[in-house]
Amino acid sequence: MPCRIAIDGPAGSGKTTVAKILADKLGIYYLDTGAMYRIIGLYLDKKGVENDSDIERELSTIKLEFINGDFYINGKRVGDEIRTPYAGICASKYAKKAIVREFLTRIQQKISKNENIVVEGRDIGTVVIPDAEVKIFLVASAEERAKRRYKELLEKGVKVSYEEVLNEIILRDKQDTEREIAPLRQPDDAILIDSTKYTIEEVINKILEVVLEKCKLKLQKE
Ligand code: DC
Repeated sequence: MPCRIAIDGPAGSGKTTVAKILADKLGIYYLDTGAMYRIIGLYLDKKGVENDSDIERELSTIKLEFINGDFYINGKRVGDEIRTPYAGICASKYAKKAIVREFLTRIQQKISKNENIVVEGRDIGTVVIPDAEVKIFLVASAEERAKRRYKELLEKGVKVSYEEVLNEIILRDKQDTEREIAPLRQPDDAILIDSTKYTIEEVINKILEVVLEKCKLKLQKE
């Protein structure tokens, strides 16, 4: 039996940090589905397409690959250009489109099929892998999430203000939870963790406890 760990939650809840460390400790794959929405969002934004038939035409020309932990779009490796607040807005805008979600969900299901993998996103436990062995829903207050993301962007040398980051988070929360298709919501059978109350290490230990109980995996790193 594979061990598929679904980690969902709003922007900046600590999902990415937690998911990466968890996958590393368990020695299994890590899939960042938000990155996939950012890649496609930026691409479609650059093309300036808005309606479904134009989007469909563009999607049919895209080859999105996941090789050794990196994404490639039409053969070109994707880098930090997808990490800006603007890329986040583009991702969220196009993530509302059924046609985009179907396109990416199919790729995500193919990558995670029969794998030991940590998959991070918004609809992993509800839509992409509803039968995931472990489901986690990670939350934190908007201010705390903005603080974290602001620090992260500064460290990467991206020029933004705290207010810009907070506003982007509030806007994205609204878009992500209010969209009609696959909105962000806690799966009924997910474990809820509020990361405002715990350190990253404590969050990881909580998840590890569940994973080691449910899956036949061993810790590869302490
Ligand atoms: O996790 P992130 O901030 O990189 O995600 C970028 C956007 O992509 C987010 O605003 C919503 C969208 N997204 C989604 O709709 N479904 C997912 N599984 C992952 C991300």
